[in-house]
Amino acid sequence: MKVGVDYYPEHWDVAMWEQDARQMREAGIKIVRLAEFAWSRLEPTEGQFDFDWLDRAIAVLSGQGLEVVLGTPTATPPVWLTTDYPDVLPVDNKGHTHYAGVRLHRCYNSPSLRKYGARIIEKLTQHYGSNPAVIGWQTDNELAANDCHCENCTRKFRSWLQEKYKTLPELNREWGTVVWSGEYSDWAQVKTPLGGSPFLNPSFLLDFRRFSSDTVADFNRFQAALLRENSPGKFVTHNLWGYPVSADYYDMFDSMDFASVDYYPATDLLDDSKSRMYHGALTLDLTRGVKQKNFWVMEQLSGTPGCWYPMSRTPFPGMIRAYAWQSVSRGADTIVQFRWRSARIGAEQFWHGLLDHHGEPGRRYKEFVQFSEEVNRLAPLLEGTTLDNDVAMLFSHEQLNAFQIQPQADGFDYLTNFKSLHTGLMSMGVSTDVLNWRSDFQGYKLVIAPMLYLINDEIADKLREYVSNGGKLVLTTRTGVKNMNNVCLPNRLPNLLTELAGVYVDEYDPVGKDTQKILLQNDQAYSCSQWCDVLTPVTAETIATYESEYFADRAAITRNVVCAGSVYYIGTILDADANRALLRRIASEAGIDFQLNVPEGVEVTTRSTEGRSLRFILNLSKDSKVLSIPKGDYVSAISGDRLQGGIIELQPGEVEILVQGTEEGYSKLWQSRN
Ligand code: GAL
Ligand code: ZN
Repeated sequence: MKVGVDYYPEHWDVAMWEQDARQMREAGIKIVRLAEFAWSRLEPTEGQFDFDWLDRAIAVLSGQGLEVVLGTPTATPPVWLTTDYPDVLPVDNKGHTHYAGVRLHRCYNSPSLRKYGARIIEKLTQHYGSNPAVIGWQTDNELAANDCHCENCTRKFRSWLQEKYKTLPELNREWGTVVWSGEYSDWAQVKTPLGGSPFLNPSFLLDFRRFSSDTVADFNRFQAALLRENSPGKFVTHNLWGYPVSADYYDMFDSMDFASVDYYPATDLLDDSKSRMYHGALTLDLTRGVKQKNFWVMEQLSGTPGCWYPMSRTPFPGMIRAYAWQSVSRGADTIVQFRWRSARIGAEQFWHGLLDHHGEPGRRYKEFVQFSEEVNRLAPLLEGTTLDNDVAMLFSHEQLNAFQIQPQADGFDYLTNFKSLHTGLMSMGVSTDVLNWRSDFQGYKLVIAPMLYLINDEIADKLREYVSNGGKLVLTTRTGVKNMNNVCLPNRLPNLLTELAGVYVDEYDPVGKDTQKILLQNDQAYSCSQWCDVLTPVTAETIATYESEYFADRAAITRNVVCAGSVYYIGTILDADANRALLRRIASEAGIDFQLNVPEGVEVTTRSTEGRSLRFILNLSKDSKVLSIPKGDYVSAISGDRLQGGIIELQPGEVEILVQGTEEGYSKLWQSRN
């Protein structure tokens, strides 16, 4: 468990490096990430390499005991490269070539990017591969599917389709190109979705997104292979960008040792926008799910965000530390703060780092130092701990893409609807694993598989097996609508899962923002919106009925018992209170521990290992909150106080870590105090 910073020595006078390195060590920093945008300094002109400055920077940093992570610089092709080899520049859906000058101006399929990218990575890894100060590598920076329409991408897309469909008649049939005379008679006619209309054939659009996602995963694999060859034994990771994204992170990370995330929680969220309030927790849970193990934060919020939009609120007192602990509480094993100093030059002058432009340690810096000292003190206790959850939610980039292509109703958004179920669990203190929908989920007590809009036999079979072995499953509306090629299926919804759910959708109404009423079995009325499936239970019992409009009294939520398992089907999008009420019932049935009311903005998770468990309780709001802790023998890792449970009060931004354990577990705690 370590703390680090992102640092750009090439932006600062060499005379400052020594002082910076010393100050980093004094602040408890152990890791520094360098060079991910420094191509023009590493290769100033074609074939002329200069590593002297980086050698010197690494020597200065490692002289203070700091370890280095190096980034490959392919996110910022230098001017000589884009000028002399313009195939590096991506082409948009109107056929316009991107101008260079910002960043991420590169096509992953460009032969020149591959050629010169491979060369700089080779040179870098040959030079630094065995340098003991360099502990690992970050590929590129925040890779995303970049929707390129250049000639190379067009050709590759065509081969991708040939591989998938083999023949043109098959492609025409699977995509349904007969509609609006879109049939192809020659492969050469097949292009990328130019023009950018959202009304292009949805099967075509989804396949293009898959192709773009495969492209970026392939680009990451290409880099990983070079790094592993020249720098064996060092880790390779990539810093993913928060959700939602169209590129499939599960594929993109198959070549990585672990996932890293750039974590920038919204700073202006705390009193109003609740949905943003819980976005960070979901992002971190999703990141842990990418490789189903602990991860790194490669960039952690350190100051006022700006540059990409007008500046937003400065993190208020306590939040630099609390958000960093939040990352740890959800599985981060290293926190690298972005960035050491606020930039004085370039576009990101107002994306603030730990130090302001004047460079004197201020409030945020001191808070970070507190965090860093705490991490260093508690490292023996945190080492080896992981989250061990009973509940899994199944996430899919393919579903997300399909819903983005055809939003189902006013306000219907895959990630937002996914998040409200996740938030519902959080509000009961239930911590959740968020997994690739294609992964194995058989061991969980409860599986929530929302909006399985695209369906295939593989997932249907796995869900059946899970339930027949006693699993508790939650399905929702917009399940089983389409096959994997984004074509509507001809059966009643939820299609392949109708028998398992014991219910079918008689008709549906995309009510959008026209809020409706439902009555849960506890006789409480709640609201729902976006979508209403009017359900006909077959073997299922009715758990909730609609209370409004022409579908009043018809089933809205059902439960079907299958062997020792059960399947809930939620036919609408519930509001927060309804989600909580329903999830309480489901969690009780599944034998999941939960708390009645975790106050808004408070997050509870547990990291544990043999011999000890650490319960993190964070108040990520601006108000003080009270929470009741189950009875037990706890020691606060923060204050050292003993506690028997009961009511605790948390100040704004307060972090509590309650340790429970065996004598051996406690002795780690006492060790950490000295
Ligand atoms: C990240 C990016 C960094 C920096 C930061 C602040 O997305 O990786 O390089 O730009 O945002 O804007
Ligand atoms: Zn391209």
